Amino acid sequence: MNPESITMSRAEAASATPGISRNSLSALIEDVVRPSFVRCCADSSEFFDAFYFRLGVRLPQVGTMFAQVGMQKQNDLIREGIKDLIEYANGDSKAEAELQRLAKSHSRSRLGVLPEYYPHWIDSLMETIREHDPAANDETETAWRQVLAGGVALMVAGY
Ligand code: HEM
Repeated sequence: MNPESITMSRAEAASATPGISRNSLSALIEDVVRPSFVRCCADSSEFFDAFYFRLGVRLPQVGTMFAQVGMQKQNDLIREGIKDLIEYANGDSKAEAELQRLAKSHSRSRLGVLPEYYPHWIDSLMETIREHDPAANDETETAWRQVLAGGVALMVAGY
């Protein structure tokens, strides 16, 4: 094995999303996902309200789970959660620790968020991004999905 392929395989091993190297994920984050998230957050509360609305349409049974916390607080928390998913893909260990905590809070013994809910969460988020980021296209969505996949898998694995 030559030194270059060792470096490559390490980059693969450290990647949050199987099949995509850490470097490729970081490039997607800097070039596509972060700028898209900034555009979405320009009308921040509208973006998150729209996201929860879509999630509630897809999963009516989840609506009642959100009764405890005020919506402004919930919006701030979910913005942080999305940031953690992005930073985890970027190799940030603090974000990984935070996702491990979130995995516990969402697990069967706490919030009880079923693994099959996650694809709906992601699809609701993608629809909301396409609606609120004027520059979003198919490539933007693919980049978001690739970047978020690792953190979502971590959460689901903690169920
Ligand atoms: C990877 C995806 C997800 C992330 C990053 C995320 C993030 C968060 C965060 C940051 C909180 C705040 C509470 C805490 O810090 O423990 C939270 C609460 C919550 N999440 Fe998630 N979440 C995800 C997926 C889901 C899914 C799929 C569902 C259900 C469909 C869900 C339902 C809830 C509920 C019911 C709460 C509690 C809200 C309340 O106390 O009113 N989450 N989530």
